[in-house]
Amino acid sequence: MIFPRAFEMKIIGAFGEVGKEWLGTLETLVDTYLEKWNLQSEGAVENLSYNYVLKVVEENGKKGILKLGIANYDFENEIRTLLTYNGKGCVKIIKEDSKNGAMLLEHLQPGTMLTEVEEHLAVKHFSRVWNAIRRKVEENSNHPSVRNWMQAFDRYQEKFPSNDGPIPQHFVSLAKAYFYEIANSSNNDDLLHGDLHHENILYSNNYGWLAIDPKGVIGDTYFDFISFLTNQLFNKLDPRQLLEKRVNILCDEMQLNKERLLKAAVAMSTLYACWGIEDSDPEWDNSFKCAQWFEEFMSFI
Ligand SMILES: Nc1ncnc2c1ncn2[C@@H]1O[C@H](COP(=O)(O)OP(=O)(O)O)[C@@H](O)[C@H]1O
Ligand SMILES: [Mg+2]
Repeated sequence: MIFPRAFEMKIIGAFGEVGKEWLGTLETLVDTYLEKWNLQSEGAVENLSYNYVLKVVEENGKKGILKLGIANYDFENEIRTLLTYNGKGCVKIIKEDSKNGAMLLEHLQPGTMLTEVEEHLAVKHFSRVWNAIRRKVEENSNHPSVRNWMQAFDRYQEKFPSNDGPIPQHFVSLAKAYFYEIANSSNNDDLLHGDLHHENILYSNNYGWLAIDPKGVIGDTYFDFISFLTNQLFNKLDPRQLLEKRVNILCDEMQLNKERLLKAAVAMSTLYACWGIEDSDPEWDNSFKCAQWFEEFMSFI
């Protein structure tokens, strides 16, 4: 079985040796789960990133999605989050084997991504899905928190103590300060999707627009807007202008506090840039550009 080169590079960039080893076992993993769960493969999806996602048909003729990933805490946490959503606002999980990094999901049909929808309408659909997946955190739940995520700032500052890294230290400190400002003034720590963007919001004939691929992280609800704002920008003519337009449409549509949104946005997009640097993702600097633009937009309020 041949896997797309870009997919292999992404896995190795993010997971190093563990990723290489996993890629070496992937063909066997695919065969194992097709057999174990009685599935017929209809091939991988086109937009693979950190998981191997296959279209499949179940024994009963229903269409499913087989998602295989490195069996780690994040994969397990995605399963836990899908079980919490229980098909409401988010895709249903049918089977799972978290120990071996496999899950079977209902196939949303036709599965049109929010990328296909014009900006104003996309914000409306986004807003409905965002509302549909609001959940209070269950007691003794084992989700990570945005505070844990933000430790990436400390790792960055330790790695580049003499300010010789790609992001100036003062900017990382600013992002960190905004993060604490939001987190410490938050009285509504929720279960967040954590990565609610255009390719993780799909249309289903049966259910309408639904979320997929939740990261299941605890934090202030404003952090759950940023992945959408910064996604699908750099393939457009004027990313900065589009970003500003999205911020405005979103604030109007959802009655948001713009300053709070922009502070959450600087924090999160700087975090994405730090993660991108850790994962050797060549596009890390797009996230940093967004962070700088969000900071600029603050002066227009
Ligand atoms: N349940 C589903 N129904 C239809 N398409 C899906 C489903 N799950 C994933 N996909 C398709 O596969 C892509 C990648 O899946 P996703 O779960 O987002 O993986 P990753 O965690 O690697 O981003 C999605 O953007 C979507 O196009
Ligand atoms: Mg995804």
